[in-house]
Amino acid sequence: MDKKHLLFVDDEPMVLKGLQRSLRSMRHDWEMTFVNSGAEALAVMCAQAVDVVVSDMRMPEMDGAQLLECVKQDYPQVVRIILSGQLDREMILKSVRLAHQHLSKPCDAVLLKDALAKTFALNDILAHAGLKKIVAGIDALPSMPTICMEVMEEVQSADASIQKVADIIARDLGMAAKILQMVNSAFFGLCRRVGDIRDAVKLLGLDAIKALVLSVNVFAAFEKEKLGLLDFEGLWQHSLATGGFARHIMRAAGQPRDEVDAAFLAGMLHDIGKLILAVNFGSEYQKVIQAPGSETRAEWEREQAAFGASHAEIGAYLMGLWGLETALLAAIAFHHNPGQSQIGEFGPLAAVHLADVFDRQTPAGEGGDVDYLNTIGVQQRVAEWRQGCADLEGENQ
Ligand SMILES: [Fe+2]
Ligand SMILES: [Fe+2]
Repeated sequence: MDKKHLLFVDDEPMVLKGLQRSLRSMRHDWEMTFVNSGAEALAVMCAQAVDVVVSDMRMPEMDGAQLLECVKQDYPQVVRIILSGQLDREMILKSVRLAHQHLSKPCDAVLLKDALAKTFALNDILAHAGLKKIVAGIDALPSMPTICMEVMEEVQSADASIQKVADIIARDLGMAAKILQMVNSAFFGLCRRVGDIRDAVKLLGLDAIKALVLSVNVFAAFEKEKLGLLDFEGLWQHSLATGGFARHIMRAAGQPRDEVDAAFLAGMLHDIGKLILAVNFGSEYQKVIQAPGSETRAEWEREQAAFGASHAEIGAYLMGLWGLETALLAAIAFHHNPGQSQIGEFGPLAAVHLADVFDRQTPAGEGGDVDYLNTIGVQQRVAEWRQGCADLEGENQ
C-alpha cells in the first residue's frame, strides 16, 4: 500500500518542530511534510498528492480558513483537519464547514496519532474513490425547510431560549447529526459521549447555535425536488426509534453505560447515508428506492449495485471523517450485514442491527441475521428484546 502523505501547516516553527518530534515514530508509515504558510502548503499540493492537511487557524496572510477553502475547492478528496488553540472557539465556528475535524493545541501526541490513524482506517469502510470524493465534499446535511426556519426565528427572537432551540433541532436528522458531531469532536474535550440532542445543544450554548444558524449556514434547507421520494420525516422517526431500541437492547443485555450511549448514538445516525444519496444522486437514487415488485434484493443491496456502496458505508464514512469513534462507525457501516464485520461479540453493532430490524417490522420470526446472532451467542434473547422494544413503543404513544 502507498504511504499516506500528511501535510502540516503552522506559522510557528516551534509548533511544527513539536509535531515533528511527537510523530517521529510514524515516519516509516507516513510521509510527512511541514510548512510555515498557506502559500507553501498549496505549492506542495500542486506538486504532490496529499491525503490529509492539518492546519493552524491563525496565520498571517492566508489563514487556516482561507487555506482550507482552497483545498476544499481544488482537492475535495483531501481530509481537512484544524489544529488550533483553545481560545479559538469563535474561529472554530467560522471554519465548521471547512474542516472535517478540529483538534485543540497543544495536542497530545497520542490523540493526534489516533485521529490520523482513524482517518486512514476509513479506507476500509469506503474504498470507492468517486464516492469518497463526494462524501469528503459534504459540509452540511440537508434539513427540513420548515424546521430550518423555526430555528432561525427562535435564535433571532428577543427572548430566545436554548430549551426551545434544542426542541426544534431534536426534530431534524441533518441538524442533529451536525450538532452531535461538533459536541463529540475532540475539540470539546468532553470525557463522556453525548448522544442526547438536547444535551448537545445546551453544551454548545445559544451563542454558538446562533452563529451556526445565522453566519455559517451550517444547516441547509433541502430542495424538495432533489430529495425525490425520500421520506424525510419517516427517516427521522425511524432513526429515533432505532436509537431508542438499541439503547433498550443494550440495557437489557447489561452493557456498561458508555456502550449503551454509543449504541444509542449509532442507532440515531445509522441511516444518515440515505440523506447523502438523496442529495447527490437524486434521480438514480429514486430508481433504486422505486424497485419493481419482482425485485428480490434488499434496498441496501440495490444501492451497492447502483453506486458501489450502500447508505450504510457511505454514512459511516462521513461520520468517520467528522471524527466519530471507530466502534460507532462499525455499527453504522454493518447494520444490515453484521456478519461481514470483524466484530465477534455482542455490542452496539448487534444492538443497532436488531433495533433497525425491529423498527422496520419485518415479519415475526424474522429476527435479523440469525447466523450472526447465533455466533455471538444472543439468538435466544432476540424474542424477549423484540417484545421489550414493542412495549417501549407502546409507552411512547
Ligand atoms: Fe439502513
Ligand atoms: Fe434503518
